[in-house]
Amino acid sequence: MSMVPSRNTTENSRLGASLGLFWRRWISDPKGIGAVAPSSPGLARRMAREAVLREGEVVVELGPGTGTVTQALIKAGIPEDRLILVELDPEMHAFLVGKFPRALVLQGDAAELDEILPPRFRGRVSAVVSSLPLLSIPMKIRRRIADAVFRVLAPGGRLIQFTYSPFSPLRNAVPELKSERTGFAAFNIPPATIWRYTSGGGDGKARPRLSAS
Ligand SMILES: C[S@@+](CC[C@H](N)C(=O)[O-])C[C@H]1O[C@@H](n2cnc3c(N)ncnc32)[C@H](O)[C@@H]1O
Repeated sequence: MSMVPSRNTTENSRLGASLGLFWRRWISDPKGIGAVAPSSPGLARRMAREAVLREGEVVVELGPGTGTVTQALIKAGIPEDRLILVELDPEMHAFLVGKFPRALVLQGDAAELDEILPPRFRGRVSAVVSSLPLLSIPMKIRRRIADAVFRVLAPGGRLIQFTYSPFSPLRNAVPELKSERTGFAAFNIPPATIWRYTSGGGDGKARPRLSAS
């Protein structure tokens, strides 16, 4: 009998570790985690499909949690070393550092993205992919997050966000953004809608009138 663990055994133990971490953090901060389960593979795949990476640029992920969407991004062809993950929770952050050793994994608040992102990447971000629990975040902070995101996005860049509401979670906070509903993950718990936000100009020149702070 082989003493080498099978691929299935290794994958199952990784999945167990992710779920254990997710639920432990959810019990200690349900609002901050904002979901009762990690994103489903279907939702992660639909999010990743929207994350276009352009020459010389990077993709930023906000609130990666246990890394389900990160994994889908890599599977969709985004090289791990062109991914920047921003996670607020210290335990999730440490987990992600171990799971994605070639990605740049930052611990911090998405509302301060433009400050915590190393200067060499500012304006060189093709897409920001967000699992942030916007529905439990006050409007003022949602606006600050969008401001920070559009300050680092490259011209023509996009913000991808999922939500459990049938409505856009940024429609009142940042009404000048162009929003498009791009997908629906019926088997996620709970079902989730995916939104794509752009500055509206297409060429990236017509930036939304975002506040200075
Ligand atoms: C819905 S969960 C992540 C789901 C993730 N796709 C997964 O499958 O594990 C939301 C994540 O956003 C993180 N988060 C919440 N507020 C944040 C903020 N202001 N900045 C960065 N991360 C934040 C939480 O710690 C949590 O890991």
